[in-house]
Amino acid sequence: MTANPLPDVRDDIVAFKRAMAERRPALKQAFAELEDHVRREADEIQADAAAGRDVIPQIDFAAIRDGRVTDAFREAVRRRGCAIIRGVFPRAQIEAWNQELGEYLESNGYYEREKEKRGLDQYFSTLAAGKPQIFGIYWSKPQVLARQDPNLAQTRAFLNRLWRVDGPDGQVFNPDLECTYADRTRRREPGDKTLGLSPHMDGGSVERWIDPGFQKVYEAVFSGNWRDYDPFDARYRLETREIPSPAVCSMFRTFQGWTALTRQGPNDGTLRLVPIANQMAYMLLRAMMDDVAEDDLCGARPGRALSATEEWHAPLLAAEVPIPTVEPGDTVWWHTDVVHAVGNEHNGSDYANVMYIGAAPDCTKNRAYLSRQKQAFLDGRSPPDFAAEDYETDFVGRATLEDLTELGRRQMGF
Ligand SMILES: [Fe+2]
Repeated sequence: MTANPLPDVRDDIVAFKRAMAERRPALKQAFAELEDHVRREADEIQADAAAGRDVIPQIDFAAIRDGRVTDAFREAVRRRGCAIIRGVFPRAQIEAWNQELGEYLESNGYYEREKEKRGLDQYFSTLAAGKPQIFGIYWSKPQVLARQDPNLAQTRAFLNRLWRVDGPDGQVFNPDLECTYADRTRRREPGDKTLGLSPHMDGGSVERWIDPGFQKVYEAVFSGNWRDYDPFDARYRLETREIPSPAVCSMFRTFQGWTALTRQGPNDGTLRLVPIANQMAYMLLRAMMDDVAEDDLCGARPGRALSATEEWHAPLLAAEVPIPTVEPGDTVWWHTDVVHAVGNEHNGSDYANVMYIGAAPDCTKNRAYLSRQKQAFLDGRSPPDFAAEDYETDFVGRATLEDLTELGRRQMGF
């Protein structure tokens, strides 16, 4: 490991805030309204949760397959910024894949190798000792087959189509075709206390204020017209430039997501969400208020996830809820600008396992990533966005080109 070459962005932050000086009174006014809006949303969310009503919109995959989704459901997802699509994969298929994944790790000696690597990195490691819960594998057959599954393709096309894709030069992305973003898998042991993730957003931190592409995405917010900001407007989303780091996804994702490999619910150390679609407006404006230092954005740090904290974002965190119990083959999705967290403790009795598979539609930005990812697949190396652990180069049973269907090849850029 080398020292982190992340840029010092304090001057950029100060410059941005100074450039916005004239707008400050309007932004204060906007923030006051927005805070009121967020508090009311949080109250409604917690009241719904307490009454046992769905907070996170959920639907069966069959409704998507059969074209029975109502406009009310689409609106609910656009308002809550997240969704659960159930029964995308048959349970028996998922259970077989979950088993196979476990064997793939075991028989290829993942645990021993991980320990060796950790030994080497011990000086830098902040992780407590213990079995890993997130695995740096990307190319097992279950993962590759799941990513190219036609049902999942249909699910993601449905989600992509919740976005407004028309831009000045035609469609910003093709909602009906995916680009595969190979990601890891989680196998969380019962009793595990090492994996909790505090509330955060992925896909950029300080960039969201200081990058010219993001400034266009959030122009309505930075003008004080937060009600005009549409989180599902695709325009300018491909123009953002993220600071490269193992914590940041360089593809454009309409939704982050995962597929459940096991049954897991609120007590099982799994996902928690802040189900408010336009919450980014709150994050952005909060950092522009007078009680935040001129060179600070509520603690946002380059190359890291963007944290939501009690100190700065309490009204937002008041809306946080756990996902309801999901079954093997169900999928969970959240907009790329939605705060999410992973519970600190897994108090359930079974493994809480998932495959991370989000929605990354076909577009210029994502194709550029595919061209870099392809060779990693062929060689069994870690994909370009991830730490170069390269566990799988000699793993037996890894997926190869022959395992890709025609759809899989297109999604992978072959
Ligand atoms: Fe995350």
